[in-house]
Amino acid sequence: MNIEIRKAKVEEAKDIVMINNIEWRSTYKGLIPNRIFDMMDQKTDQRIKRKQQTIKEKNNTFVALLDGKVVGFSSYGKAHDDEYSDAGQIYACYILDEYHKYGIGSKLIAQGMQALINDGYTTMISGCLVGNSANEFHKYVGGKYIKTIDFDAFGYIAKENIYYYEDINKALEMNKEKIKSRG
Ligand SMILES: CC(C)(COP(=O)(O)OP(=O)(O)OC[C@H]1O[C@@H](n2cnc3c(N)ncnc32)[C@H](O)[C@@H]1OP(=O)(O)O)[C@@H](O)C(=O)NCCC(=O)NCCS
Repeated sequence: MNIEIRKAKVEEAKDIVMINNIEWRSTYKGLIPNRIFDMMDQKTDQRIKRKQQTIKEKNNTFVALLDGKVVGFSSYGKAHDDEYSDAGQIYACYILDEYHKYGIGSKLIAQGMQALINDGYTTMISGCLVGNSANEFHKYVGGKYIKTIDFDAFGYIAKENIYYYEDINKALEMNKEKIKSRG
C-alpha cells in the first residue's frame, strides 16, 4: 500500500472532520450515546471552520493519503494535562475502517513524535477511551498506562486512559524499527 504522510492543507479540513465523524460513530458505538454523534454531525460546518483555522495557525495535523485520497489523520501539540504541562501530546489519530491494520496509524504516530521532538519536547502523552480496543495500539507505539481521567465528549463525560512516553526519541526509534520490519 503506497501511503503518503504529510502535513495537512487548509482545504483538507473537511476530509479530516468527516473522517472524525465516521470513526467516532464506528469506534465509540456503545461507549458514547448516539445523540453525541448526531450533535457532532450537526456541528460539522462549524468544526470544519475551526479545523481550517487550527491548520492555518498551528500547522499541527498530518494526513495519510492513498492515491491522493485522505484516509486518516493525526494531530499533536502541547499536552492538555496540568500534571504533564511540559509534555507534548498526540491529540488524535483516526483512520477510515477499511484502512486499519496496514501500519498507517504507526506511521502517523511516528510523524507526530518527530514533530514533537522538533518542537523541543522530550516526553509525551496520549489518550484512549476506556473500552476502545485501540488501547492496545497506544501500548504498541510505546505508551505506558498512567491514569484514567474524565473525557468530555461534546458534553458527555466518558472515561479516558492516559499513556505516558518518558522518552519520545526512544519510542520513535522503536516505532521506526517496527515500521521497517513490517515492510
Ligand atoms: C487505532 C488506529 C489509529 C490504529 O491504526 P492502524 O493503522 O490500524 O494501526 P497499525 O496497523 O499501525 O497497528 C500497529 C499495531 O497496533 C495494534 N493495534 C492497532 N489497532 C488495534 C486495535 N484496534 N486493537 C488492538 N490492537 C491494535 C496491533 O498490535 C497492530 O499490529 P498488527 O497489525 O501487527 O496486529 C486505527 O485502527 C483507528 O483509526 N481506529 C479507530 C479510531 C481510534 O480508535 N483511534 C484511536 C483513538 S485514541
